[in-house]
Amino acid sequence: MIDGAGRKINYLRLSVTDLCNLRCQYCMPEAGVKKFGHGETLRFNEILRIVETLSQMGIDKVRITGGEPLVKKGIISLIETINKMDGIKELVMTTNGQRLEEMAESLKDAGICRINVSLDSLNPEKYASITRGGDLEKVLRGIRKAKEVGMTPIKLNVVLIGDFNDDEIVDFVELTRNDDMEVRFIELMPVGEVASWSERNFMTGESVLEEVPELEAIEKEDRSSPADYYRLPHGKGKVGIIRPITCKFCSACNRIRLTSDGKLRYCLHSNHELDLKVVMDDHGDIMKAVEEYISLKPAEHHLEHHQYVTRSMFGIGG
Ligand code: 5AD
Ligand code: SF4
Repeated sequence: MIDGAGRKINYLRLSVTDLCNLRCQYCMPEAGVKKFGHGETLRFNEILRIVETLSQMGIDKVRITGGEPLVKKGIISLIETINKMDGIKELVMTTNGQRLEEMAESLKDAGICRINVSLDSLNPEKYASITRGGDLEKVLRGIRKAKEVGMTPIKLNVVLIGDFNDDEIVDFVELTRNDDMEVRFIELMPVGEVASWSERNFMTGESVLEEVPELEAIEKEDRSSPADYYRLPHGKGKVGIIRPITCKFCSACNRIRLTSDGKLRYCLHSNHELDLKVVMDDHGDIMKAVEEYISLKPAEHHLEHHQYVTRSMFGIGG
């Protein structure tokens, strides 16, 4: 699948639900959010039909996201079926880790080869506060279990939040000294209803390098990765910095997103979507509709113009 700017698209981020068992402050407003209605959500057979078609068009890597994918009923069998599709070579997941300990083994057996775990603080009280109720111990036990069953290397996603975890950068980086873990710091993006909160608490990716000057830049293994990589001298793991705000990685973009209500999105930072539920309901040709839509994928995004996405992150999957 080649987009309008000549890039090869082979990576699908598949959001299986907009529901989540946490309420991260940068993702959801305290009062709660409007969830997709039952009729709006894709049924399993619809998700599978779309993924199968996309795999025939050249998608070979799928990341399962949410909301929180592990709260989705039947997720294991969905993963098993996707894993059996001919074109799919790499099946991975992003989770908040709250249910990881009990599910790690079945996830691995179903075909998930690696996971990213979202973790913004190593302090139990701070973790509970940023997630509005999350249990840090559960995440840590989940990570241990995921390592045990071989979903490695584990990647930790740490969203950089001013006046919150800026004092923990060193501790997070330390995790990579004796462990082949990858810790990825992500610049806070202003998204959805809580965009202004994120703007107020923004911190640059560069501050990681200011905080830990001994980090050495290393080569990217995967050109399409949005992260720049670093290593502690003789460190076993890696440190990634993802700078969606201060730096652009659009030219190497290889991804598209499918939301749990059936919208295909060619860019996280664009509000332009293709409604595949409508295409299927009208008995239209999914492949043709996708081809036309992908040809419109813009060469780059324009976050700096403050044209923020209106759909919330739990509805896109990051
Ligand atoms: N800015 C940056 N990262 C975010 N995530 C969720 N919302 C935001 C935001 N506004 C992260 C989550 C998860 C990944 C999918 O995206 O913490 O790790
Ligand atoms: Fe849930 Fe992820 Fe949003 Fe946190 S950031 S509330 S874990 S969907």
